[in-house]
Amino acid sequence: MSNRKSHVFHRDLKADYPVAVAGEGAWIIDRDGKRYLDASGGAAVSCLGHCHPRVVAAIREQAGRLEFAHTAFFTHEPAEALADWLTERAAGFSRAYFVSGGSEANEAAIKLARQVHVERGESGRVHAIARHQSYHGNTLGALALGGNPARRALYEPILGLPVSHIEPCYAYRHQRESESLEDYGRRAAQTLEDEILRVGPDRVSAFFAETVVGATAGVVPPAPGYFREIRRICDQYGVIMVLDEVMSGMGRTGTLYACEQDGVWPDMITMAKGLGAGHQPIGAVLVAAPLAETIEAVGVFHHGHTYIGHPMACAAALEVQKVIAEDSLLERVRTAGEAFHERLAARFAQAPHVGDIRGRGYFRGIELVADRETKSPFPRQRGLAARIKTHAMANGLVCYPGNGTADGVDGDHVLLAPPFIATDDELDMIVDRLAAAIDKSLAEIAP
Ligand SMILES: Cc1ncc(COP(=O)(O)O)c(C=O)c1O
Repeated sequence: MSNRKSHVFHRDLKADYPVAVAGEGAWIIDRDGKRYLDASGGAAVSCLGHCHPRVVAAIREQAGRLEFAHTAFFTHEPAEALADWLTERAAGFSRAYFVSGGSEANEAAIKLARQVHVERGESGRVHAIARHQSYHGNTLGALALGGNPARRALYEPILGLPVSHIEPCYAYRHQRESESLEDYGRRAAQTLEDEILRVGPDRVSAFFAETVVGATAGVVPPAPGYFREIRRICDQYGVIMVLDEVMSGMGRTGTLYACEQDGVWPDMITMAKGLGAGHQPIGAVLVAAPLAETIEAVGVFHHGHTYIGHPMACAAALEVQKVIAEDSLLERVRTAGEAFHERLAARFAQAPHVGDIRGRGYFRGIELVADRETKSPFPRQRGLAARIKTHAMANGLVCYPGNGTADGVDGDHVLLAPPFIATDDELDMIVDRLAAAIDKSLAEIAP
């Protein structure tokens, strides 16, 4: 940064962060004029790149018209229009609850599930089931749901939510040689039924899962049929099914909702990141009609924050969604996403430490391993993910590496989530710069 002592409580108080001063399409520019190609939208946020002119104009317009109106007193057009837009595109959903980010969305979903059960006379349903190798946010309830050991560790003693975790659906590591992907998907889903029976079906409130697992396991799509089976099990036992699409939703995988590709609609979808595309902080819980009707019968959802349904955030998100639709960006993500995958696969085909390349659309993960044959991970202490981040940044590339990929402790991956507006040249540049950062990092730890 500079020699001046910062008073910002940064994420890492020892880090020397560059000072970002401008955004321009797929690029972030720092105070020294250095340009960074934003290949991960930070953490899968900036789906329209930076400073998209239409979204900037919509925010300006809304700021001049109505900057805030408290939701205990008013509704307003941006929230109404955005809720219409989102529910019209999700079969069987009738309401959207707007918050300011992904953690808040999952907190609201935990509470809504609880209240729905209580209103229906099933107040014994208090227990949530989620999955290992998942992340649902950093507030205490959302953190308790998550199955990311490193993020939980410090706070474990104060995570009060009754929750248990089943295995993820992670074919690269857990599919047996003798079984098909579909068989594996059924076996992975069966662990939910086993857990519901262990806890007691009348005690289970909700099941939470990321449709495509994001930062914890490095972009892991479900096996075919997995979520259909999960839907069947949730229906059988009256468990509310919540899909966390905070990272994977809003077009990132090539369809507005990632679960569309799995042929399944849950009871709630939580979303954030791509919803406001970084132009405003916004998240939402999309609520299926039967749940909404339960609350409609009593009127009040016992929850709320000052900034829920913020007009400028809703106006920005609505404009983001219109740009995606009018510029046919989902089609672009679907077709160019496949080409991007091919390019990655070709570049890393001979790479001895690239174990798996996976994902959907513009949501891609590369899992790095010590040994491709055995899939053994690099030990956490080698710090491979952190090295890749450092070398990529030095080379003007923002990507999102993570560790604990294999089992919550060891293993590394890189998450890529390019902006939907990236050009073919920029996509090529991402592959080249990433390959250079990976090569350099591996040379340090596995010469
Ligand atoms: C799948 C998922 N859920 C929830 C969250 C939390 O969102 P936020 O950081 O906006 O609170 C994240 C953030 O990375 C996420 O990836």
